[in-house]
Amino acid sequence: MKERPPAGHARRPSPTQFTELTRLAREARLRAHAPFSRFKVGAALLTRSGEIVTGCNIENASYGLTLCAERTAVFKAVSEGIRDFTAIAVVCDSTRLVPPCGACRQILWEFCGDIWVRLQDLKGRTKTLRMTTLLPLPFDARHL
Ligand code: THU
Repeated sequence: MKERPPAGHARRPSPTQFTELTRLAREARLRAHAPFSRFKVGAALLTRSGEIVTGCNIENASYGLTLCAERTAVFKAVSEGIRDFTAIAVVCDSTRLVPPCGACRQILWEFCGDIWVRLQDLKGRTKTLRMTTLLPLPFDARHL
């Protein structure tokens, strides 16, 4: 399956778009279902056309079934036919900014390619990086 390689370089969102994206990720965080870890995460994905799809982490008493905020956002978007992503914002309340976990990096690469990743905590501390920095040697459909 060699077709559909991950998207190329995504255009960097404007400061206004990043602000709106993190605002919506922060709102989505409040909808997290995290009674077990009590660690709430919000995410917001931006498309090239300016559409935004949010996600939050959704835990389960069978812990391994937990879905991270990033994957919730990607799966929501893809299932609605929304693709062509340029950035994702991830917001949580932590002393260290939280980057997507390994599983989410793989999923983000598959559907979003080298998008911009903006991390933010509730104090507004921010870091912006690219997916290729988070996942420098990705496995994808080109290897199959
Ligand atoms: N979590 C996310 O939603 N995104 C991340 O990038 C890291 C971890 C969630 C999963 C779980 O519900 C909680 O945070 C603690 O691991």
